[in-house]
Amino acid sequence: MRMNIARLSRRALVCAVAAGAVLAARPAGATVSVCIDSSNPAHAMDRRVVQAVARQQGTEAAIYTFDGSGAGDDDGFDVRKFSTLAASRCALVLGFPVDAAHGAVPEGMRATAPYARMGFVLVTPRSHEAETLAALPSGTDVAVTYLTAPNLYFVKHPNVHADIYPTDAQTIASVVHRTDRAAMVWRASAVAYLPGGEKARDYCMHALSEPHADWDVVALYGPQGAAAAASFQKSIEALRRSGQLAALLRPYAMSPANPIVLAAAEAPAASAAAPATPAAGGAKPALFTAAQADAGKKAYADNCAQCHGDNLEGMAGPALKGKNFASPKANFHVGDVFTIVSQNMPATQPASLPHDVYVNIMAFLLQQNGMPAGSAELTFDGAKSSTVPLVYSGD
Ligand code: HEC
Repeated sequence: MRMNIARLSRRALVCAVAAGAVLAARPAGATVSVCIDSSNPAHAMDRRVVQAVARQQGTEAAIYTFDGSGAGDDDGFDVRKFSTLAASRCALVLGFPVDAAHGAVPEGMRATAPYARMGFVLVTPRSHEAETLAALPSGTDVAVTYLTAPNLYFVKHPNVHADIYPTDAQTIASVVHRTDRAAMVWRASAVAYLPGGEKARDYCMHALSEPHADWDVVALYGPQGAAAAASFQKSIEALRRSGQLAALLRPYAMSPANPIVLAAAEAPAASAAAPATPAAGGAKPALFTAAQADAGKKAYADNCAQCHGDNLEGMAGPALKGKNFASPKANFHVGDVFTIVSQNMPATQPASLPHDVYVNIMAFLLQQNGMPAGSAELTFDGAKSSTVPLVYSGD
């Protein structure tokens, strides 16, 4: 699987359709019933995890393999084919990546607690090892896959230049053939596409500490899958405690940093009924004026809507409004979001707009997420340093 943002959102769509259909049709059986995407470079890991979970439960694994890559074109997944095939086959869809900083699960779906931590890594030949982008010599060409998060890192690190490839396999090949000195790829792709055996020692891989570099791997399920999800999580937790999980995940992924929290799958009814939780602490501060938000509305339409949608609902870029964006779990602060907006956006021309335009757009985003307008104007520095939590409150 390529960590292609556009593709990720299609994947989300597929899973929502497919799992909704599946889980309604399928009673929670005795087997551990899962779907695994064979185009995911970590599919061997998912398979091992499921086998171990089944053993832990003293039962069999029923694994249904599908090809989530689409027919080799960039159209992504074939929604109908997947939903039809999967409908009779699985209770949990494994291997779904969720951004660790503010992970959103596709609308209508639930996710188990993470069973693995993956993400983007910096790959270099051992002879030119570097642990961070900043450590690479000035003028270094770094291979990166089209439309993946690491494309955004070049703005912050002017010492490196992007060499963009269509697939992770080609991105890795450029380092193997020494066309580029380094590459940034999805960890599982590095494992899958670097040479194996003795030759693997010729390369180093370091987790990137950059925005959107850490991802958690979860299993998705629908309303009927809560029991299967709860058993899966319990088994994962047992495997984690006994130390087996770490071994199963190597070398593709690491164990999740924190122990698994079972609450999500154990209380399905509560999570469905719970309304959006407003920010703790009552009234929200007024950070911007109504005039700024109005001006921002137009600037948003001109500069952002083509990727984030006319109504901030998300398209090629993620949604910028609502519970999936500014959830309490996301733990966003105004300053974090403004830093992304003013340094990385528009994604095709980062940091290209005047300061006051960025400020107005930020005022519009705050307003759309339920923050009140007031009499004091938002300023560029004020927005950047604001530690006010950004939590959606609205319908
Ligand atoms: C060419 C497409 C494109 C345009 C234009 C664009 N964005 Fe983005 N934006 C993206 C993509 C893709 C991401 C996801 C990047 C990632 O997750 O690393 C993103 C991420 C974001 C995020 C982070 C969201 C999150 O949940 O992490 C914010 C905020 C954002 N964009 C705001 C804006 C604003 C405001 C504008 C207009 C000034 C804009 N974007 C213009 C493509 C675009």
